[in-house]
Amino acid sequence: MVVDSKLRGSNVIVRPARSVRGVVRIPGDKSISHRYAMLAAIAEGASRFQNFSAARDCASTLDCVAKLGCEWKRVKDGNDDSAIEVRGVGPQLNPPVEVLDCGNSGSTMRMLSGILAGQPFSSELCGDESLSRRPMARIMTPLSEMGARIEGADGRPPLKIHGGPLKPIHYRPEVASAQVKSCVLFAGLFAEGETVVEEPIRTRDHGEIALRAFGAEVERTGNASRIMGGQRLRAIEAHVPGDLSSAAFFLCAAALFPGSQITLPGILMNPTRARLLDILMQMGLKVSVAHLEEHQGELVGTIEARGAAWKGAVIAGADTAALIDEIPVLAAVAPYSDGGLEVRDAKELRVKESDRIAAVAANLRKMGAEVEERPDGMRIPGGQHLHGAELDSFGDHRIAMAFAVAALRAEGETTIQRGSRVDSPIVLSGYAELQ
Ligand code: S3P
Repeated sequence: MVVDSKLRGSNVIVRPARSVRGVVRIPGDKSISHRYAMLAAIAEGASRFQNFSAARDCASTLDCVAKLGCEWKRVKDGNDDSAIEVRGVGPQLNPPVEVLDCGNSGSTMRMLSGILAGQPFSSELCGDESLSRRPMARIMTPLSEMGARIEGADGRPPLKIHGGPLKPIHYRPEVASAQVKSCVLFAGLFAEGETVVEEPIRTRDHGEIALRAFGAEVERTGNASRIMGGQRLRAIEAHVPGDLSSAAFFLCAAALFPGSQITLPGILMNPTRARLLDILMQMGLKVSVAHLEEHQGELVGTIEARGAAWKGAVIAGADTAALIDEIPVLAAVAPYSDGGLEVRDAKELRVKESDRIAAVAANLRKMGAEVEERPDGMRIPGGQHLHGAELDSFGDHRIAMAFAVAALRAEGETTIQRGSRVDSPIVLSGYAELQ
């Protein structure tokens, strides 16, 4: 086996590789899984999802909807052991008797708040230490404008949402955030009239696509998405496409070694997410996409990638928003490129599960790399040689996985502390599939 990784206690150990080859099955997309679970809960009838995300964050969403009276269960669907069935209760959920624990998941808290704002009861949402630090004013402001009363600890969790009848709004968020957009559109289902979200930069549109799949009409013109309140949703059956942001780890692993070759079947190809492929190709990875299909409005395809030269890039403006989840891994492998990587306009990275700019810089430095950290980005020179080191996951799954990839080309063994405590099994299980 060329890729050698294992667990030692809760630490992940990764040894250098010479190339990566193989076919990797990537679990279902997280963004879509969250939205499907939430919309299925307020739809009429039982929805079924194959390849539902295996991530703990999506399990948090399922736990929360269960506490709101919506039953769900795992179902056996051929070879798929990640299929679930969610029994919708219709637009009015049951008042929860417990606090809704969103765990580590900002998506759960922000998007579910939109639905809770329209419910005729009060609910409380909490999260783990990392989520408790994350900004929630971005959803509290529009939901309050719509008429919900929301209490938060200085704009942070825990949140108390006193829901009720909502007014439609035309909302122009300051931050480009698909979670905020989905939150307001979901609340818009409960408002009397048309709710509009006009974004500063176009973000991923899984909320709009999922709402349409469940039978709602959502209009999109330019950067504005519109939804009429009072529309009822009906249950669907869907196959969740493989998560492109998880595929990114394997694509970057292949990019590290000329001659590597990987195949990733059934991956999400939604144009609002696929900027990753453009940037990887620009940096030298040879990528082709075959078997393009559409599932419930989402584009899906098989990615074939071959490692070749690895060049530098600059990520800024709208690209930064489009690549926000993949920047940690692109940055972690940037020292091995010819030209390095410059990331600008990425202030949002500082308020993710960890401060991802600081976390990437700290770990790269521990591996012996030179990094210039900036308030809203970083510059990582290319042509550097890294050595294995003891790294911190910072309790952040994307940081653990990004460095499990960077470790493949370092000299010597790398340990990622607490790497298995975060939601990062995909890299290890995926590595096990590689030769
Ligand atoms: C997500 C949107 C992004 C992304 C997150 C998932 C979504 O967050 O980083 O992992 O599913 O809408 P923001 O909305 O905060 O940009």
